Amino acid sequence: MTAQIIDGNAVAKQLRTEVAQRVTALKGKGITPGLAVILVGEDPASKVYVGKKVQACEEAGLHSVLERYETDLTEAALLARVEALNQDPSIHGILVQLPLPAHIDAHKVIESISPAKDVDGFHVASAGALMTGTPGFWSCTPYGCIKLLESTGIDLRGKHAVVIGRSNNVGKPMALMLLQKNATVTICHSATQNLKAHTLQADVIVAAVGRRDTLTADMVKPGAVVIDVGMNRNDQGKLCGDVDFANVKEVAGWITPVPGGVGPMTVTMLLVNTLEAAERVAA
Ligand code: GUN
Repeated sequence: MTAQIIDGNAVAKQLRTEVAQRVTALKGKGITPGLAVILVGEDPASKVYVGKKVQACEEAGLHSVLERYETDLTEAALLARVEALNQDPSIHGILVQLPLPAHIDAHKVIESISPAKDVDGFHVASAGALMTGTPGFWSCTPYGCIKLLESTGIDLRGKHAVVIGRSNNVGKPMALMLLQKNATVTICHSATQNLKAHTLQADVIVAAVGRRDTLTADMVKPGAVVIDVGMNRNDQGKLCGDVDFANVKEVAGWITPVPGGVGPMTVTMLLVNTLEAAERVAA
């Protein structure tokens, strides 16, 4: 059996079209959703990411502001900028691109963002809202994975989901979102013994480790849904995920490719969160 491919580009495109329609409706009420993106320093990957975020806003009709600062920006100056954006009614979402330079306490900066504008979903208030099942912004990458899973039409209720990875931004929120969708959830990580024994039980596997070939075909139950959050390079320098795609796709029922799977969803869910932040103000 060859798995059906979950096309992240197609799901993202559909969602972005829906966002654009809702943006138009909101503009009719006199509100343009606005996102502020703060980039400190010269990290090349971060420059690419923020460029994609700003461009996606433009394409969907959202207002965006990119604020760029030199690496030597002080923590106090950054906190003052965030506070000004917290007070700015034209801005509904604030995103401080990570990583920040070492002299700035990233946690302190994230916590300074108003939870009502925390469209990254990184604030402890957002994490707490996810944990308790109360309204709040869901972290964009795992939220995108949920949308990809939903695009298959498979009901997650009662399914056994295995999340590999326990990062604050992907693994942990992913597990909580799957739980919110009534899946039975196992979290595996670097200290897990016999990973394969766990993954072989799974109806859904989310790999979010950051190491290629973490999930191989012998570790997958036939027909399982496999979501690959990894972004790695193989020996030829080609982009690859955490999953041995070529072989796992012969066992799985559904699988996301890298690139073209989870990647396009992260920015899409940022648009969704920013739109929803603006809709909440309008309500
Ligand atoms: N750095 C890498 N990915 C992200 C992200 O999703 N949000 C922020 N703020 N920084 C990042």
